[in-house]
Amino acid sequence: MRICVIGASGKLGQYLVRHALDRGYEVVGVCRERSVGKLAAVADRITIVPGPTNDREVIRKAVAGCDGVLTVLVPWGVRQYSSGTAQAVLDHAEPGARLVFSCGWHITRDGKDRYSRRFRTALWIAAKLARLVRAVDIDDQVEACRRIFASDRRWTVVRGSDLEEGESQGLPVWSRHVGDPVLASNLTRRVDFALFMVEALTDDTLVREAPAIVGRLSPSALAHAEDGTPQAG
Ligand SMILES: NC(=O)c1ccc[n+]([C@@H]2O[C@H](COP(=O)([O-])OP(=O)(O)OC[C@H]3O[C@@H](n4cnc5c(N)ncnc54)[C@H](OP(=O)(O)O)[C@@H]3O)[C@@H](O)[C@H]2O)c1
Repeated sequence: MRICVIGASGKLGQYLVRHALDRGYEVVGVCRERSVGKLAAVADRITIVPGPTNDREVIRKAVAGCDGVLTVLVPWGVRQYSSGTAQAVLDHAEPGARLVFSCGWHITRDGKDRYSRRFRTALWIAAKLARLVRAVDIDDQVEACRRIFASDRRWTVVRGSDLEEGESQGLPVWSRHVGDPVLASNLTRRVDFALFMVEALTDDTLVREAPAIVGRLSPSALAHAEDGTPQAG
């Protein structure tokens, strides 16, 4: 299996590379030229394609021959970084390739997610502030996901809760809608967010799903398991 990790040098990206190598996959990593050094520890085991992730030519070259593409979707800047990255992957990935994208709970696929007032307020403030300093454009990540959801590719959009560092707790559990009780703890280890994305490459039940995930050992996930209520993941 040959896979491409787009955004390989970031925190999530480095975990994705590690999980993929652990599975014996051949890995191609795309990252900004200035960040190539962050991949020094694995540089002799992966192919690195340096460049902006919304550069269509960079993406075309990197995804050629790949069975799967793992994309860290980040809304940096105000130049359609997210939507440009997603569109390049949708356009250039091999026919039939599994495409797995990361984002946060704030993305909704069908409008049926139920957010707490605290979550909505925090998101509103973060979006306004970020747009003001032209650092982040959350609306562009929304647009990126709209295009993915509309695509007939074999995609999965993994929606991460708040993240923390730490040892793996195993595969996160997931639900279709934020607001479902199993997700209430709103915390996942970053290493396990990556694990879920890599597992999704070979899990056809996740094709055209937008799972919202939470840590397997978080209180809400455990409470749900004790209820005997079925849980995914
Ligand atoms: N952070 C959270 O709490 C949280 C919560 C839920 C979901 N998520 C999702 O998780 C994913 C990544 O989150 P993360 O916190 O773990 O971040 P991360 O892995 O550190 O990813 C950041 C990525 O953005 C790139 N980047 C940074 N500054 C940039 C710039 N100015 N222009 C272009 N690219 C830039 C980084 O590349 P370089 O290595 O080149 O800097 C890296 O690939 C995203 O999809 C996010 O929506 C995050």
